[in-house]
Amino acid sequence: MNNFDFRNPTRILFGKGRIADLKDQVPKGAKVLVIYGGGSAERTGVLSQVREALSCHTLIEFGGIEPNPRFETALNAVELVREESITFLLAVGGGSVIDATKFIAAAATDKGDAWDILTSRGSVVKGALPFGTVLTLPATGSEMNPASVITHAEKGAKLPFMSSHCYPQFSVLDPEITFSLPPRQIANGVADAFVHIIEQYLTYPVAARVQDGFAETLLRTLIELGPKALETPGDYDIRANLMWTATLALNGLIGAGVPQDWASHMIGHEITALNDTDHARTLAVVLPSLMHDQRGPKREKLLQYAANVWDLRDGSDDARIDAAIDATRRFFETMGMKTRLGDYDISAPEIERIVNALKDHNMTAIGEHGVITPEDARRILEAAL
Ligand code: NZQ
Ligand code: ZN
Repeated sequence: MNNFDFRNPTRILFGKGRIADLKDQVPKGAKVLVIYGGGSAERTGVLSQVREALSCHTLIEFGGIEPNPRFETALNAVELVREESITFLLAVGGGSVIDATKFIAAAATDKGDAWDILTSRGSVVKGALPFGTVLTLPATGSEMNPASVITHAEKGAKLPFMSSHCYPQFSVLDPEITFSLPPRQIANGVADAFVHIIEQYLTYPVAARVQDGFAETLLRTLIELGPKALETPGDYDIRANLMWTATLALNGLIGAGVPQDWASHMIGHEITALNDTDHARTLAVVLPSLMHDQRGPKREKLLQYAANVWDLRDGSDDARIDAAIDATRRFFETMGMKTRLGDYDISAPEIERIVNALKDHNMTAIGEHGVITPEDARRILEAAL
């Protein structure tokens, strides 16, 4: 096992009715900016629950954070934070709203150019306003991690940053809030969490028994419960298990002391920057192709994945690896997700643009060995057409 530091300071308030407990988590006397997305939080009544829970606090609201949150919109919120002397931020939404809130929290305390937060991948961040979250879409793990992904539409860039100052102080996870999700977002959440686990698991063995065992359990949970969430959308226990799985998939626990890949994500981000394809759908396209392309370096873990996640134990090594990759693709398709680039209007000229964007954004040596180049990405994408 590799050396590691592990610390996760985010308090989780899990279960039915937990929004009411916000009043004890948001500091007394705080001036709070409630940040939300395009209106689902208002429609579903989540915002009114938040307003009621915080009726003794001073609240100002900022709506309109887009899916794949925009740099420009976040800067408008930063201006409001400064004008109103806001002291605490509360994100109410999915990964996009939470990611935007992290960026706003960091940019509001920074005197420099906010763009540098992204180009430095977060290393210039020296502080952030405190914030909490009410999660409405289990998927990204943003509710319990220090990462954020922001899009600059004019620059055609979708860039991640990370800072230890950007952990939420608390996150409310009420599975009942997820009943309003449309099937497309349920599928996105399951697929995104699935690929987060794969990025930290499907690399090469380092004798990390606990991390591997946790990762395999989380993967099997998503495989079993993802399709059931679509079939029986009113089942609380299924939603509760999916919600907690998505959080554990990317809160640092299974990634401690193991190599990590993230190539599917970096390639996928460029697809979203190009044509706004949902984040999870880009992963459903890239991952099966990448697994096939990288079957050499990933051989031992692919065999472990085949046996422990898909129960594939017969046949030659290559046959079991092929079957595991096929099963992965079928799983995404069972969740209603298309797994070919052509399904998202991407053909050869767009691949050229994606490859160039990877170069422009310094994504020139990615994957667990740091050796996947934009030309390798081109081959992976061409095989996914
Ligand atoms: O905008 P509103 O009206 O709120 O609607 C949203 C949005 O249209 C809707 N929605 C959310 N909760 C709902 C709901 N609709 C009905 N009922 C509810 N309870 O769902 C749509 C998608 O929301 P979004 O927040 O964009 O989705 P998700 O949570 O999948 O977040 C995706 C973003 O997170 C980034 C992605 O790149 C993408 O920008 N990621 C962040 C990560 C992180 N911070 O660690 C890691 C991930 O790999 C990912 O890159
Ligand atoms: Zn993701």
